[in-house]
Amino acid sequence: MSDWLGKDTLRRLGDLTPAQFLRDYWQQKPLFIKNAVPELAGLLDGGDLAGLALEDNVESRIVLKHPDNRWELRRGPFTQKSFKSLPARDWTLLVQAVDHYLPAAADLLERFNFLPNWRIDDLMVSYAVDGGGVGPHYDSYDVFLIQGHGTRVWKIGPEVDDKDLLPHPDLRILRKMKVTAEFVCEPGDLLYLPPRLAHWGVARGECMTYSVGFRAPSDRELLDAFCNYLVERTPELQRYGDAGSKPSAHPGSMTPAALKALRARIHALVDAPGALEDFLGRWLSEPKYGDHATEAPARRYTRATLARALLRASHACRDEGSRFLVVETSGTPALFVDGERYDLHGSQAMQALATTLADQRRPDCGPLREALADDAAAALLLHLFNSGHLYLPDGQSPE
Ligand code: SIN
Ligand code: CO
Repeated sequence: MSDWLGKDTLRRLGDLTPAQFLRDYWQQKPLFIKNAVPELAGLLDGGDLAGLALEDNVESRIVLKHPDNRWELRRGPFTQKSFKSLPARDWTLLVQAVDHYLPAAADLLERFNFLPNWRIDDLMVSYAVDGGGVGPHYDSYDVFLIQGHGTRVWKIGPEVDDKDLLPHPDLRILRKMKVTAEFVCEPGDLLYLPPRLAHWGVARGECMTYSVGFRAPSDRELLDAFCNYLVERTPELQRYGDAGSKPSAHPGSMTPAALKALRARIHALVDAPGALEDFLGRWLSEPKYGDHATEAPARRYTRATLARALLRASHACRDEGSRFLVVETSGTPALFVDGERYDLHGSQAMQALATTLADQRRPDCGPLREALADDAAAALLLHLFNSGHLYLPDGQSPE
């Protein structure tokens, strides 16, 4: 496993600038780019991935296609024995959120910083033997499929939906797939697919594929989560009232005045100053896995020990499973980390720190040292280090 991919945002996607890609392809049409991320090939091997799939807290699955064309899903965690019992061909192992466990895999996400971080779901990595793949399917989200070692042949088709799926208890496989294009992906090649496009990748020999997956809340999810947020924050005693109303001519009918008053209540609750911003900051910065816990450093940092440690290190790291997000709420930005809000009180030093931390998974130590000079920014930085949301790479712990 190599340990450092570099942290530069992709400056070009083939012949395109990120701005051209976003204008002409993102969420619209597929794009194949030869040799887009060549340094990815040696990042992980099948053994590394299988090792992750043995762990209890890691989400993994194996998809097999049997000789009678039956598809089977096996859910992890796996054991050494699970791998020994697999056939010689036509299966694939898939591991979600590899970026949470391997800092070098998290670096790959940095390449996609031309897109808002909150839209990124995770990095899924698959290892397949000859003929392996998850079958013809579609995803509801955008994905960048990047080829690691070996070769995978991708077939793509038109936009499809649920009614095109084969009945299957565990897998979402298309009944049949019309093929509109085919791409032979070799190490470093990238295939971008917009949501709902039919696709099917089949391994030619052993291979590995990295999927940078995105998320986009559905209206249902948004309403469900925002309504729950509002309900939790609305006092029990706040209630509809109709003092001063006129006698009812039609007691069985709702009066326009009552309707207007209730509509106004709903609007006022939904539009309460700062509510939507606070909700979005908390909700969208929640970690992917609810049970995600950061690891506090062995010894708590003080302002002095952190200053010294930041001098020795070149960059700090965000906990790989943590989400950082800045949202402008009530005219001033606030930082949200893993669902918690940190007010920045209009302080320039705190705002600069929050922006650095939210923009970069591996922030340089220079701006962090500058933040330490300001009392409020130093308190925030110390809190984030001492709670494990930030850490310094190997050996840079407090003395
Ligand atoms: C894979 O890596 O085999 C599956 C990725 C995908 O089709 O979304
Ligand atoms: Co897919």
